[in-house]
Amino acid sequence: MNALQSPDTLIPRHFLDLKDLDASTLRTILDVAVGIKRMQHKRARPLHPALPLRGRALGLMLSKPSTRTRVSFEVGMQQLGGNVILLAPSDMQLGRGESIADTARVLSRFVDAIVLRTGKTENLRQLARWSSVPVINGLTPDSHPVQIMADIMTFEEHRGPITGRTLAWVGDGNNVATSFIEAAALFGYRLRLATPPTHAPSPAAVAWARSKGADITVTTDPVAAVAGADAIITDTWVSMSDKASDQRLNAFEPYRVDAALMAHASPDALFLHCLPAHIGEEVTESVFEGPHSVVFDEAENRLHAQKGILVWALCGEDWQQYGKEPTA
Ligand code: CP
Ligand code: NVA
Repeated sequence: MNALQSPDTLIPRHFLDLKDLDASTLRTILDVAVGIKRMQHKRARPLHPALPLRGRALGLMLSKPSTRTRVSFEVGMQQLGGNVILLAPSDMQLGRGESIADTARVLSRFVDAIVLRTGKTENLRQLARWSSVPVINGLTPDSHPVQIMADIMTFEEHRGPITGRTLAWVGDGNNVATSFIEAAALFGYRLRLATPPTHAPSPAAVAWARSKGADITVTTDPVAAVAGADAIITDTWVSMSDKASDQRLNAFEPYRVDAALMAHASPDALFLHCLPAHIGEEVTESVFEGPHSVVFDEAENRLHAQKGILVWALCGEDWQQYGKEPTA
């Protein structure tokens, strides 16, 4: 948005949490992402033929480490014709006390969208409140919605529609688990979560998803969670917002995804992990490197799913056309 447009007349399409969006928009974002991926593979070249984001700039603000989020947004913007400006909060005046409200209003005059990875969820909400361009959640301690879009895309590429299928989450009831819980209500899959009692999933997320009709089971028993499941998912036992301790790691010992646990799932169950993985902690090498694992497809799909999100956020009413071959 430029200075001549009134913030009151435009409502930015923020991508903050899955529960803020409706099921049909999320489904269409994935359809567009699949279409863009198909066009790219058909031509064996990465540039989108219509360059829908030509001349547009994305501010990538990462106040925590990242490999996938950073590279997939940078490359995705390039492939859609746009640019990325990497904004390390510690190098900005934000790091010397400039407010998020002022930072958001200034950045909104320069860039067309902002991705934020932050250690404080409130920072994301503040940024979105003051930004007149779309804000995309690149991970907070409470959620990781762009990851789950890639994960659903990956499941469906390998096993068809996710609606009605059963997914099992084993390990920490963390930020990624919360977004999986929200997505259960929006994509219509059954979700069973097995966590230590001390690291249970967010009760608010579970209550919200159940209130929308989702079938969510919360248990401390990993075998019960994975029985017959179509996918087993885990994540690190120590997230970026957590402190590692022997006590914490010990609590997760019964929740390692190993071949014995995978054997309780459906014979063609997928293994998913958002990465980075800690082999020998949350997953054994034999599962991570084994035939059920689709973790690198999942990592690649960050690129494709986020292109769907970027096109939705930035291409106005016609955004859906960018998932189809250009006609002219
Ligand atoms: N899965 C994920 O978000 O990875 P990064 O921390 O490398 O961005
Ligand atoms: N739960 C992990 C995900 C990393 C992508 C974390 O927050 O560190």
